[in-house]
Amino acid sequence: MKDLVRIFWVGCIMLMLLGVHPAQGQTYNLMPQPVQLVPGSGHLAIDGSFRVALEGYEEPRLEAAAARLMHRLAKQTGIPLSDGLETDPGKATLVLHCDHAGEQVQSIKEDESYQLEIGSRQARITAPTPVGVLRGIETFLQLVTLDAQGFGAPGVQIEDHPRFPWRGLVIDVARHWMPEDVLKRNLNAMATVKLNVLHLHLTDDQGFRVESKKYPKLQEMGSDGHYYTQAQIAELVAYARDRGIRIVPEIEMPGHSTSWYVGYPELSSGPGPFQIERHWGILDPALDPTRPEIYTFLDGLIGEIAALFPDEYLHVGGDEVNGKQWDRNPQIQAFKKAHALKNNADLQLYFEQQLLPIVQKHGKKMIGWDEIFRPDLPKDIVVHSWRGPESLAQTARLGYMSILSNGYYLDFVLPPADYYRVDPLGGAAQSLTPEQASRILGGEACMWSELVSPENIDSRIWPSTAAIAERFWSPQDVKDVGSMYRRLDVVSRELDWVGVTHLSSYPLMLTRLAGVHSPEVLETLADVVEPIKHYNRQGARAYTTFTPLNRLVDAARPESVKARLFSELVDQLGANRDAVRKQLLAWRDSREALLPLLQQSALLGEAQPLAEDLSVVAQAGLQALDYLDAGKAAPPSWVKDQLMVLDLAAKPRAEVMLMIVPPVRKLVEAAGKGSL
Ligand code: ACM
Repeated sequence: MKDLVRIFWVGCIMLMLLGVHPAQGQTYNLMPQPVQLVPGSGHLAIDGSFRVALEGYEEPRLEAAAARLMHRLAKQTGIPLSDGLETDPGKATLVLHCDHAGEQVQSIKEDESYQLEIGSRQARITAPTPVGVLRGIETFLQLVTLDAQGFGAPGVQIEDHPRFPWRGLVIDVARHWMPEDVLKRNLNAMATVKLNVLHLHLTDDQGFRVESKKYPKLQEMGSDGHYYTQAQIAELVAYARDRGIRIVPEIEMPGHSTSWYVGYPELSSGPGPFQIERHWGILDPALDPTRPEIYTFLDGLIGEIAALFPDEYLHVGGDEVNGKQWDRNPQIQAFKKAHALKNNADLQLYFEQQLLPIVQKHGKKMIGWDEIFRPDLPKDIVVHSWRGPESLAQTARLGYMSILSNGYYLDFVLPPADYYRVDPLGGAAQSLTPEQASRILGGEACMWSELVSPENIDSRIWPSTAAIAERFWSPQDVKDVGSMYRRLDVVSRELDWVGVTHLSSYPLMLTRLAGVHSPEVLETLADVVEPIKHYNRQGARAYTTFTPLNRLVDAARPESVKARLFSELVDQLGANRDAVRKQLLAWRDSREALLPLLQQSALLGEAQPLAEDLSVVAQAGLQALDYLDAGKAAPPSWVKDQLMVLDLAAKPRAEVMLMIVPPVRKLVEAAGKGSL
């Protein structure tokens, strides 16, 4: 311990000599990291006398933001705070100064910059627009901490603005229905990390989730009664705008559209009859692009959607049309021949060509997935790249704007670091000229909802999306994974204050799994497993939209923080021998309490082999430590046997993986060599 203290102080002195404030990236738990932060000497105390004043331009959105700020601060500190605004800026603890109005309908051109200055008497946020003030408020709130003196914020001067204008999250409300409160709490969390686009995937084979008054059979027959009314959409749009967030609606076509045909089979290219789809994948039903009536229908529908969502962009989907219904329809085949359309890609282009003027007629610009792109589209469309960074770079080269989602698929259930490393201007985009690169507007994290419910969707979105938000907002050179994790840990806990349930749903789901028993025992196992990655779950069993998502794999988080921290201890074994041994002993001995618990729960029987392996793997780690402690290499036959055990334990069971296997493998391999 004494050694650690000495290393810490030597480190601090070295950092000071290098001109880097030791607090930077450590005590400032900011995410995203601002463009510039200059530490000051003061400290602003926060107590019951805290008051906010508006200065300069004022509007209801700023008043609402000030009220929310007071409410959040009161909640975070537990200190009762008065709701009212202070009218005299001289007497306020925090002054929100806004220069002028922002855009009526927020666009990619909105100025989101702000400055934040915290002194020992007062803090000031200065921004050109209300949205800039909103961004500054979130930075201020992240700086409020509790120390030995009480609640307060450190003296700082911050200058900040986003790197990309389009920083989004896709929520798929079609595969699994997500009620309004799920969206609202996620909008709150998005605002805390300065994201500015919620892209709603409103329609798919499994549901048509928005009310059409012109074509009511869309939602009445295509949604099981689970859709947003037009009034609810208006409320969501206003809720998002209050937080500086645009809502971009996606009406997916011509594929991924089975739900439309339950009420309107005449729109489809196949004979029907149709039912709401309970499975997922790339399915056959598609609009019939050859029939003029569908464009009349789309004109009516898009007119309604365009009026509901004020955003300048309307997402028309366009991905994954398998063309099978088109191939089977003789009338469509004849049409292709008559119009010299060589293949189904040509037929889809024909469809998009008819669609574009309809979208434009209703005052919108078109955004769609990779597949809609062709090089004679107007230059104000946005291509949404999901298939790879090459398509992103290629569209930018050809003069088109694009956003990146490839690499940000939250349904791959990857650890935050994997998403954090993906940069919209990385990979193929590195070869772009500055002008071409400026056409890459940013990106969107994607939460496809095949295997999430309202109960656990937040646990797939957060905290990874906070790391992605930093990638979209902060300068490109902010990319240290260690710093990201130190800050993410704190920010993740703070996110709970605004209502997302990524942390709070976990003990509840474990409580369900444990039945009448205490979930704490189960936590020992659940804390060290992760769901299998990418789309491997989909092949593991026959899922439908009705399959209960109440198993260990549904509760398990995308990253086992426990296993990551254990891995870090193993990497620094010299300083952490005791901690590593203690942890391994706890895992080895967990079996005794775990097995009876797993045996009595119908939902947990499948996890028994994992509990056995947790114990066996920990035992291998302990033996490896013994060899390392003795300073002699373990016999090759022992190493071989242990590696075989580890290979078996590394295999997924119950659709989860035991994440302590890789660090224990390191110990075993080190034991074979006699040192780490
Ligand atoms: C997609 O994932 N097919 C957009």
